[in-house]
Amino acid sequence: MKTNRNFPAARALGVLIGSIATLACAPAAHAQQRDASVLAGACFNCHGTDGRSPGSIVSIAGRPELELATKLKAFKSEPPPAGTTIMNRIARGYSDADLEALAAYFSGIKAASAAPRAKVKGDGK
Ligand code: HEC
Repeated sequence: MKTNRNFPAARALGVLIGSIATLACAPAAHAQQRDASVLAGACFNCHGTDGRSPGSIVSIAGRPELELATKLKAFKSEPPPAGTTIMNRIARGYSDADLEALAAYFSGIKAASAAPRAKVKGDGK
């Protein structure tokens, strides 16, 4: 029975394909749960890891939840607050519930003590 030798390999391939399909679906399932820590990853590039900015963009870690939520929702208004450069475009991609979840998430992170809060405007750039 030579052909039977191929069965383990075929079964292994099937398991592998099944695993890949499961892995590919996992991030989508997370996003549906509106897990704020997943949403927050989109903010780290500019506001620093965990919202603690090392650069000129303002830190958002440890700020009052209501302040963050109010600012985030204001970015969605038309026209957005004066001086807004990018957050109006970013904020529009999120529901108000998402923005509130993000505000709660970042306000719950301890602000970095060493780094002073950077200002976006008027920092001599
Ligand atoms: C491409 C860079 C970039 C990304 C990504 C980004 N931000 Fe911002 N953020 C800025 C800049 C720049 C400002 C200053 C306002 C402006 O110019 O739009 C700002 C301002 C803010 C403010 C107001 C801070 C204050 O004190 O006035 C909050 C809150 C904020 N961002 C939250 C977020 C959240 C939450 C995310 C992720 C969903 C995010 N940002 C993603 C660049 C970014």
